[in-house]
Amino acid sequence: MLEIDNLTKTFTDNKGGEICALSDVSLKIEAGQFVSVIGPSGCGKSTLLRIISGLDNATKGSVRVVKNGSLNAGFVFQEYALFPWMTVLDNISLGPEIQGVAVSKRVDKALSYIERFELKGFENKYPKELSGGMKQRVAIARTLINNPSIILMDEPFGALDSQTRSMMQKFLYEIWSESKKTILFVTHNIDEAIYLSDSIVGLSKRPGKILLSLQVEMPFPRNVTEDEFNRYRTEIITFLNRENQ
Ligand SMILES: Nc1ncnc2c1ncn2[C@@H]1O[C@H](COP(=O)(O)OP(=O)(O)OP(=O)(O)O)[C@@H](O)[C@H]1O
Ligand SMILES: [Mg+2]
Repeated sequence: MLEIDNLTKTFTDNKGGEICALSDVSLKIEAGQFVSVIGPSGCGKSTLLRIISGLDNATKGSVRVVKNGSLNAGFVFQEYALFPWMTVLDNISLGPEIQGVAVSKRVDKALSYIERFELKGFENKYPKELSGGMKQRVAIARTLINNPSIILMDEPFGALDSQTRSMMQKFLYEIWSESKKTILFVTHNIDEAIYLSDSIVGLSKRPGKILLSLQVEMPFPRNVTEDEFNRYRTEIITFLNRENQ
């Protein structure tokens, strides 16, 4: 379980001015849960993920793993952070390579991800030769192969067209339910959050505070045309309209 306690982040600019991005954010994430974070632009969503991953420090508060060892976060960004000079196979097997896993073992492992992630036939291609959805599947595979304790995803499907985006949502749901990974997911897309999440956290406009905490009780896999789906949609739209004023 991940426990985030009273996290506050204040940035100082080079003229000494302060911007408070997050204010007293507390959140518990159970192992295996899919939690989405929504909120207006600039409310501190990416900052929250960066602090959890260790890319940035909190001004106050803490991020702790309760039970079962240390925090080992994998990050998936909106812009596909793949290495352009490496093939699909090399991008996916980079983590095991850094960990010193023997070539034949890491190639076998990467090839099994390539198969599961519907990238067969593209193992020797470079990122620029892939579609947006494929690039994002490589990015997720590359993260998952490292067996992270939590996967942090910052608007991972934000750059995709709507059809590819719904395919990727379905795909991510399948991968999540097979791998039982804990996922913290930032999105501006309401349907995406409801479709994928056990719970949805809504941040206020800056400084981000948690003002909405919604358990999505619908069974998986979900259907966007259900009446119940619409009830959650209305609740979130009402919240965001209020925060975007
Ligand atoms: N390195 C930084 N230095 C100074 N200010 C920063 C830095 N990073 C973020 N901020 C500020 O902190 C606030 C929160 O930024 P953040 O990127 O976390 O927002 P966000 O919720 O992810 O927004 P969006 O939905 O547009 O991605 C913003 O006002 C931003 O300008
Ligand atoms: Mg952001």
